[in-house]
Amino acid sequence: MAEHITIPGRYAVMGNPVAHSKSPRIHQMFAHQLGHQIEYTAIWVDTDGFAQAVEQFRADGGRGLNVTVPFKLEAFRLADQLSDRARLAGAVNTIRFEPDGKIFGDNTDGAGLVHDIEINLDIHLRGRQILILGAGGAARGVLGPLLKHHPVKVVIANRTVSKANELAEQFREHGPVEACGYPELKGKHFDIVINATSASLKGEVPPLPETLFTRGALAYDMMYGDKPTAFLDWSLLHGADKAADGLGMLVEQAAESYFLWHNVRPETKHVIAALRKGG
Ligand code: ATR
Repeated sequence: MAEHITIPGRYAVMGNPVAHSKSPRIHQMFAHQLGHQIEYTAIWVDTDGFAQAVEQFRADGGRGLNVTVPFKLEAFRLADQLSDRARLAGAVNTIRFEPDGKIFGDNTDGAGLVHDIEINLDIHLRGRQILILGAGGAARGVLGPLLKHHPVKVVIANRTVSKANELAEQFREHGPVEACGYPELKGKHFDIVINATSASLKGEVPPLPETLFTRGALAYDMMYGDKPTAFLDWSLLHGADKAADGLGMLVEQAAESYFLWHNVRPETKHVIAALRKGG
């Protein structure tokens, strides 16, 4: 039920590229649902113009920002204060401008992924063997929130093994995490396999053994598109029981951002369904 309250405010997503971002649509759907009046635009920012664009947006009355590729690290450096999860992720995807002028940096990506898996897909992380493919920013952003839900183990596999080792080392104090290369996955089995590589952008699949999945396993791709990604197709063909793309994660991270700005968490299921239908 929409409440009859009005909270005006200016928000935006900054990125490069950003034209195809679904965030404006998602945030408008949230606002409509809650009876809020918001402005939410997509702002293309020159690769060396991020700090200036943020300052300009604040000067023009902006209240908050989402930050996407390639500015999440720069947003992390720019923030005056950081949430614990942003510090752990080493990246910021949500900025809130505080009344005293300070920039508060948060990262809602990991919480978005966990919410999508635990609530929308109804698959619990506790006690599961989890495999993360990739050791870049996308992997780092979700490791902390995943480990918080007490999986038995999280294995990070990466083409460049040294990057996986580094990441595992950084997170060792947060839970049971290991690193390896793809060949070492042979003979190992996982309940949840999360693709955090950018391979799907090129229609590629990391070199995985065909016996990777346990019975009932979930394959999750943090990417999404009009069609299932190559990784999801491959997974269903090789024993995964369920396959999910990153659209749910996108909407859930947006809901977390919305909460940070407006102190209320929107309903997400209908928004995900509307995006699935409307592209
Ligand atoms: P992001 O911030 O999206 O994580 P990134 O930091 O560039 O982007 O990391 C991309 C990840 O995808 C890396 O783990 C990369 O592996 P390497 O570190 O070995 O380069 C992985 N990746 C990209 N293309 C891949 C492919 N075709 N097969 C396997 N891994 C791939």
